[in-house]
Amino acid sequence: MVTIVVGTQWGDEGKGKIIDILASNADVVARFQGGANAGHTIKRKDKTFIFHQIPSGALSPTAILIIGNGCCIDPETLVTEIEELNKDGIDVKGRFFISENAHVVMPVHKEIDAKDSYIGTTKRGIGPCYEAKYGRRGIRMQEILVGDLSRGRLSRSGDLSHKLKRRGEEKYLDEMLSYGEILRPYIMDTAIFLNNLIDENKNVLIEGAQGGLLDIDYGTYPFCTSSNTIAGGACTGLGIGPTRIDSVIGVAKAYTSRVGEGPFPIEFSSSLENKIREIGGEFGATTGRPRKVGWFDASLVSYIVKINNIDKLAITKLDVLDTLPGIKICKGYKYKGKERYGPFSPSYLLSDVEPVYEELPGWCETTTKIRKYKNLPLNARRYIERIAELVKTKILLVSVGPGREETIKV
Ligand code: IMP
Repeated sequence: MVTIVVGTQWGDEGKGKIIDILASNADVVARFQGGANAGHTIKRKDKTFIFHQIPSGALSPTAILIIGNGCCIDPETLVTEIEELNKDGIDVKGRFFISENAHVVMPVHKEIDAKDSYIGTTKRGIGPCYEAKYGRRGIRMQEILVGDLSRGRLSRSGDLSHKLKRRGEEKYLDEMLSYGEILRPYIMDTAIFLNNLIDENKNVLIEGAQGGLLDIDYGTYPFCTSSNTIAGGACTGLGIGPTRIDSVIGVAKAYTSRVGEGPFPIEFSSSLENKIREIGGEFGATTGRPRKVGWFDASLVSYIVKINNIDKLAITKLDVLDTLPGIKICKGYKYKGKERYGPFSPSYLLSDVEPVYEELPGWCETTTKIRKYKNLPLNARRYIERIAELVKTKILLVSVGPGREETIKV
């Protein structure tokens, strides 16, 4: 069984928690795109883990973890992440593998990204790294493994130093080679490895990062990330054929948040935004930036549901809305006086549209301790069911708190 989990909004939907739950039945958890721009948060008892690059299945002690070729790897922060996990008693050696074709985020990529003021990037060097990849100037993980004679290669230190020289980065040669040495046990051809695991009927969970509205092709271009975040990206980002995929699960927050620049028509009034930001802890997991917060956008989410062919949705952070007397859902947009319903392409038009809302009554009760769907307040169930109806999916889970146990199976 191969299941892909993707974000359906602008990232930060709570994918980390959902993946952590689903990973308890998974043999393999794999990432296919992005890099340290992601920040997947998992709360276990008193400890909060934030995974930037290592797949969020790391806490399942036997899960095999894969970073696919579609990812951009910052070796320095990856080594730190491995060390931090070790300190917490989590050893990933022997079960964590990195594609030899994944690209390396070089110091110059971070320097370029640090100057960004237009997109509002996470400044992790992701965009410049993908630019180098598609400009065929990039450095891949296999290149920081020098002298890998065991695999019949000539020493590649010559190639690497030549490339770095061209980029004015020769001074990083030793540093890159030392990361190569540390990461050597993890680097391999993950595509063949993963295909073999699928052939053995292993349960594979594929972890998307960011969200559909940040997809380079389908998101709010240019205010988006630089990879394909949608389920289709899993094929190219891991080297698996489309017919391998059995199911796509979407994760959606019960409202919407966004960090970085770009249109956000469903934004709350500033007092409500401050209130929900505080209750929901809406600050970037990677950058700490305050997130913009607004109503649930069924129009955009149904677009993302379509292009991913999402069959089930996990709704997170329902409890954050517990105190609101009325809750709006954006079910369409008004553009040049005309109302449009159904999937709405997150194009440049978003800057010029007016949301069309319907308002549902709130439930004004605490939901965090509820564990059965039927015990949720009637208005909370109505809200969830209306979302399912508008975005045309089944609901798999509802999350009512950050903890693993604060989850309701539907
Ligand atoms: P980049 O991916 O760092 O290039 O940032 C591009 C855009 O995607 C910016 O608006 C970021 O805030 C946003 N972004 C990137 N990663 C995440 C994420 O994991 N969660 C939410 N937003 C993200």
